[in-house]
Amino acid sequence: MRIDIITVVPDILKSPFEASILKRAIDKGVVEVHFHNLRDYTDLSYNQVDDYQFGGGAGMVLMIEPIDKCISALKEERDYDEVIYMTPDGKTLDQKMANGLSLLKNIIVLCGHYKGVDQRVRDLFVTKEVSIGDYVLSGGELGAAVLCDTVIRLIPGVLNNETSALTDTFQDNLLAPPVYTRPAEYKGHKVPDVLLSGNFPAIESWREDQAYKRTEELRPDLLKE
Ligand code: ADE
Repeated sequence: MRIDIITVVPDILKSPFEASILKRAIDKGVVEVHFHNLRDYTDLSYNQVDDYQFGGGAGMVLMIEPIDKCISALKEERDYDEVIYMTPDGKTLDQKMANGLSLLKNIIVLCGHYKGVDQRVRDLFVTKEVSIGDYVLSGGELGAAVLCDTVIRLIPGVLNNETSALTDTFQDNLLAPPVYTRPAEYKGHKVPDVLLSGNFPAIESWREDQAYKRTEELRPDLLKE
């Protein structure tokens, strides 16, 4: 998979890709992530990429021309499955959407900033609008990092144990069951006996039961979907 991220502040975005699972995925060649600074695509003085909005009102708007130039340059090199715009009024990211995106080959992720982008960018170039939740970030960059993290870890070959993404919370619309590690007893608090029993069918059934109970208690809305 190849992800091209367009942003005015690439520095906000880089560190999540420089450690742990995302770095390993990049080092393995399972995913390529490229950052494009919108300021490299403007001819205006001071590398201007934003301007006041027509009609008045607070807040700057990212202009269409540099975004068009950047997206067009990328599209000349390869075809893209989606041009995703990160925005609080997009469709809320969930595990199902992440699963779908993880199957794609090339995506562009456009990060808004300030008041967002000129509406014509959304009308002409964007194929999918994604929010990471009902709150407003100062830009789309942190949202893009969240989207990339959740998508990249689902690509086959990224997680060491291939089955571990399948047992994540939200796969199958259930929360994950509780997990324990050593010691088996800590200050009088014991790990459930079944997990130490070596009886794998019993362990599996306990985990399913716990996942269901936890979902019923904490997120009953998931069971209704
Ligand atoms: N940009 C600003 N707020 C956002 C959000 N909640 N999700 C995605 N992008 C955003």
